[in-house]
Amino acid sequence: MTSSLANSISSLNSVAMGDKKGDLVLKNCSLLSVYTKEIIPKIQIAIVNDRIAYVGPDAGHAIGPKTTIIDVKEKYVGPGFADPHLHIDQFVLPSELAKKSLLCGVTSLFSDPIDIVSVSGYKGFQEFLKLGEDLPIRIFQVVPGGLPVDGKFSHSKTLSLSQEKLAIKHPHVLGLGEVFSWTKVTLRDPKTMKSLSTMLENDCIINGHTAGASEKKLNAYVASGILSCHEPLNFDQVLERLRLGMSIMIREGSIRRDLKEIIPGVLIHGTSLDRLMFCSDGLDPIDITKYGHIDHCVRESIKLGLKPIDAISMASKNCFDYYNMSKDLGGIAPGKLADILIFDDLKSLKPNKVFVGGKLVVSNGSIVTSIKKKIIPTWIKKTVKLNKLSPKDFGIKSKKQSIIANTIFMQTEIITKLGSAELFTKEGNILTSLDKDVWKVAAFDRIHGTNKHAIGFLENFGADISAFASTWSFHENDLIVIGSNDSDMSIAANSLIKNQGGLVVVKSGKIIASLPLQLAGIISTDSFEKVLSNFEQVNNSIVDSGCKFSRPHLIPLFLPFLALPSIRILSGGIVDVKRRSYINPIN
Ligand SMILES: [Fe+2]
Repeated sequence: MTSSLANSISSLNSVAMGDKKGDLVLKNCSLLSVYTKEIIPKIQIAIVNDRIAYVGPDAGHAIGPKTTIIDVKEKYVGPGFADPHLHIDQFVLPSELAKKSLLCGVTSLFSDPIDIVSVSGYKGFQEFLKLGEDLPIRIFQVVPGGLPVDGKFSHSKTLSLSQEKLAIKHPHVLGLGEVFSWTKVTLRDPKTMKSLSTMLENDCIINGHTAGASEKKLNAYVASGILSCHEPLNFDQVLERLRLGMSIMIREGSIRRDLKEIIPGVLIHGTSLDRLMFCSDGLDPIDITKYGHIDHCVRESIKLGLKPIDAISMASKNCFDYYNMSKDLGGIAPGKLADILIFDDLKSLKPNKVFVGGKLVVSNGSIVTSIKKKIIPTWIKKTVKLNKLSPKDFGIKSKKQSIIANTIFMQTEIITKLGSAELFTKEGNILTSLDKDVWKVAAFDRIHGTNKHAIGFLENFGADISAFASTWSFHENDLIVIGSNDSDMSIAANSLIKNQGGLVVVKSGKIIASLPLQLAGIISTDSFEKVLSNFEQVNNSIVDSGCKFSRPHLIPLFLPFLALPSIRILSGGIVDVKRRSYINPIN
């Protein structure tokens, strides 16, 4: 339980004065001061309960018989890192992610749980809040800020205005998450405008997403109270937003890696760093294992030319300043919560020790605290509301011998365009074509149990498998099935219906790899290591068989994603995003 500063001042003041003794004193620290951008040698830090009481040359007056003393032997001591924007309703439970993040020195996560809300609405949001409580890491949440992306096509669940008002009463709910459908702001969509003014009236933060917006549209967005963005792809876009008073979270995660494009421009221009942060926007198990988390951003930025103390300030102080939490977090100073990292050197930047609220949680690069398993209610593990499907459910009929199909042509795992291919029929059913690399793709509503579904064609996938299915697809969370034949598509779909969620790969009638995602069909209840292994198997089984893309799980994930052009598939149909119209799978 985190103390409040208001209730702690007497105790902190007494320890600072030596009238009371501290619980913990760190001696011989090379202090990374994010306030003065200095590295100050031979500093001593006294901690009482979960906060810092004293920072200075001699904490002897705060040492009593029960005080634990740690000599850090001139190692570097700095504040815990924060990830100011990520989606933690992915892959693993918050408790499993916590272990990996803490090992990287990340002691605060600012979570935007879009997909848990898309699947299970306010009830799911409340349950997810509980999953993030009482962990040895700080997890703050925001109310998802853009669902549904486009009400004409989307059927995702969302929060009503009254539910948003209720949600922000929770002490760990800080405001509104990335308002990604920015046209809803520039067109002054009534619900969006009410949400924004509610947040502003309640002094809540509003996170932004302004991909592609500039000039008057960007001004209108900022004038609506949205003061951050993690979408800039280059320094020009960063500068345009900084000049309008925005804060920028430079993204370096599994969806995009923007550091290398942005940091050199920041250095050349000499831009103030005060409103710059790093964020991951979400990390898959392979990436967090391979690269790390915010520690990776700090390391890479230093390699690109930033001073270590500047990169560390961007990873800590700047995030808490942005979230108006600077009295509690962001640096090593009296009154602050004792989230402290100890580094052997400023090159590897892997913390040897991590304290959260004065409690040692990482030592010698290992987790040294216990994390209780949470009880997960049954209802949230039953979200694939579909009856068993048959091969017939994947058929597309035509009386002709051949047809011209409109295909979703995959340019990358994420970017699509409208394609076209001649396909032939057999007994009135249109066949896919291995030669032309044309597949079938299906989207089933698995959230509402409406049986609504759409079948189309997908081009340029290239893998030598026969079906790939997933219950996790951004914002819609339809069941997506890609396949070369109806029978194997139904085997893949039925496996996910039976197991209530995940990713599965089928070849010649057999399941060759699977990643169960039991919680809402988007999060596994297994250990991080198990999830990593399953995820690698799913990826490798597709990539090693000749898929055109290196990260195939992104294909079903983005296929219904209405925030990007050009052609998407949802359970309601195939959508031309720019024209805001449905298109037929057959021309
Ligand atoms: Fe995001």
